[in-house]
Amino acid sequence: MARLNVNGKLRDYEAEEDTPLLWVLREQLGLTGTKYGCGVAQCGACTVHIDGVPTRSCVRPAATVGANEKVVTIEGLSPDGSHPVQKAWAALDVPQCGYCQSGMIMAAAALLKQTTKPTDADIDTAMSNICRCGTYNRVRAAIKAVAQGGDTRAAGLAIVHVDGSVA
Ligand code: FES
Repeated sequence: MARLNVNGKLRDYEAEEDTPLLWVLREQLGLTGTKYGCGVAQCGACTVHIDGVPTRSCVRPAATVGANEKVVTIEGLSPDGSHPVQKAWAALDVPQCGYCQSGMIMAAAALLKQTTKPTDADIDTAMSNICRCGTYNRVRAAIKAVAQGGDTRAAGLAIVHVDGSVA
């Protein structure tokens, strides 16, 4: 039996020495918001935070994560989707199919915690996640909206939805 600190709770699990953190999170702890994409740490769909550092959980053996390290998944970012990054993502309709988006949000949240006003270069460096739907422009816009305090209009990023409402 091994133990992880996930989303503020100590959770016990059993796995082989080399079982990736991703599979412990998904299959043993039921936290399926973190996605399997490429399996080789390239696409970022599996991104979680370990002590605040964005980490690709598909290649990180769970056994190498100590119970004193804080793992945060998309389910733990906020209790109700109210994290500023999640709100900006919703306001700007960032996701398309959505598969990559929990990883994108986790990467963006880590970036904005470290750098409250990221430059385009900062965003380019931090957001190496791959989106098969090509939502990159909206990801960048949402990160900038958060940097502007969540005000999409002040950030010059307001969008008009098909129902006429403005975000
Ligand atoms: Fe579909 Fe990114 S929204 S892969």
